[in-house]
Amino acid sequence: MDTPLFRAVEEYRAKGYARFHMPGHKGAPQGFGPELDAIFPVDLTEVGGVDSLYHADGPILELERRWAALYGAAASVLSAGGSTLCIQTMLALACRPGDTVIAGRGVHTSAVNAMGLLGLTPVWLWPDGSAGAGMGGRIRPQDVEAALKAYPQASAVYLTSPDYFGAMSDGAAIAEITHRYGRRLLVDNAHGAHLKWMGKGLHPMKFGADLCCDSLHKTLPVMTGGAMLQVGDPALAGDAKGRMSFFGSTSPSYPVMLSIDRCLGLLENGYGERLRQVAVPCGEVEALARRRGFACVLGPRDPSKIVLNVGQSGLNAEEYCDRLRRFGIEPEYADASWAVLMAGPDNGPEDYRRVERFLEGLSPVCAEKTQSPVPRPAVAMPLREAMLGDWRAVMVEESCGCTAAGMVCPCPPGIPVVMPGEVIDGAMMNLLKKSGFFTIKVVK
Ligand SMILES: Cc1ncc(COP(=O)(O)O)c(C=O)c1O
Repeated sequence: MDTPLFRAVEEYRAKGYARFHMPGHKGAPQGFGPELDAIFPVDLTEVGGVDSLYHADGPILELERRWAALYGAAASVLSAGGSTLCIQTMLALACRPGDTVIAGRGVHTSAVNAMGLLGLTPVWLWPDGSAGAGMGGRIRPQDVEAALKAYPQASAVYLTSPDYFGAMSDGAAIAEITHRYGRRLLVDNAHGAHLKWMGKGLHPMKFGADLCCDSLHKTLPVMTGGAMLQVGDPALAGDAKGRMSFFGSTSPSYPVMLSIDRCLGLLENGYGERLRQVAVPCGEVEALARRRGFACVLGPRDPSKIVLNVGQSGLNAEEYCDRLRRFGIEPEYADASWAVLMAGPDNGPEDYRRVERFLEGLSPVCAEKTQSPVPRPAVAMPLREAMLGDWRAVMVEESCGCTAAGMVCPCPPGIPVVMPGEVIDGAMMNLLKKSGFFTIKVVK
């Protein structure tokens, strides 16, 4: 497996230079334990031959070009700062200060923060609840079209798909509509880097997105923090690195970048088939859950996520997780309605057997949960002003009528109850109390 950054780092190490450069550990073991000490020799900085992320013209550029060729992108830009950095870059590339963005409400906090920092005004689209109660669901293409008509000043559409539960919106239809109105489509595909290998047209670079982020570390064998900004519109390729450098550290992690480089080698050499195979045991586990009487996620979704119905089990999230752990399973996430297990090629048959044994001992004791209404708050002031201004903490029960200074989302992957600049009403106050919040940041 020949990959460019690994080769360059090996060549550098072979020279045996005395390291009078950063990092301070000089590549030597520090007695931090064998696992950490083993990483130091390849934890480098931008010395001769190993390129420089934001001015790449050597192995990092080759890595990015090979990545773009694999995914069919006009350009791929490496991030050692996760999708968070890619999301900041996408919005800074496609929008200008003061612009309006049409965005699905089920956004990650990094997008809300970036919108505030860049002075963007979001117009929210509420997901349709089509995946099942307690999950956001999907953004409907017709809602995107209606918003494009209602807000002709909007410069971009921002879609999060797949969501944390794996539910996928109709990206191709949304891309077609967005382009028909002459706007750009930005996709938070943080949970979908692997989708390129799971089926035709599932990855945003295949369904027509202009920009997307892939958290490689979430679903591919890449170290935490490794991500890729994928550029579909060639007109945006030239400025992508420069805009990313506004937000990124000037010292990106070489171990993280090296893991992306080696992952490139895996993907070029048949790893996609291993990814595709993951759908088989996941489908079998889901079929077992259905046979046991549990409802599963409805509609198009990521076939590598196992989403188990907690609500029907009669257990709360903590009890459900405890029980999973007793069967030797650590989930990605669980709330009162659902538990999410993320599967990958490194989950062996025994891992799935554990999930099956867990399900075999569990029967539904409650009816399926029904969807509770998602609040649609009024906006009192611009997102940026509310987010960056002075704030104070108030008890949730005293927050009715106040303007939120931060985003509040009862369960991180769900639909935020309130965004900065929105007014908290009585129903939202009760929902926040029910979700276990005691205090909330409001505008001073
Ligand atoms: C939907 C979504 N977008 C973006 C992010 C940010 O990704 P990263 O952790 O790679 O910065 C996350 C993180 O969990 C996420 O769930």
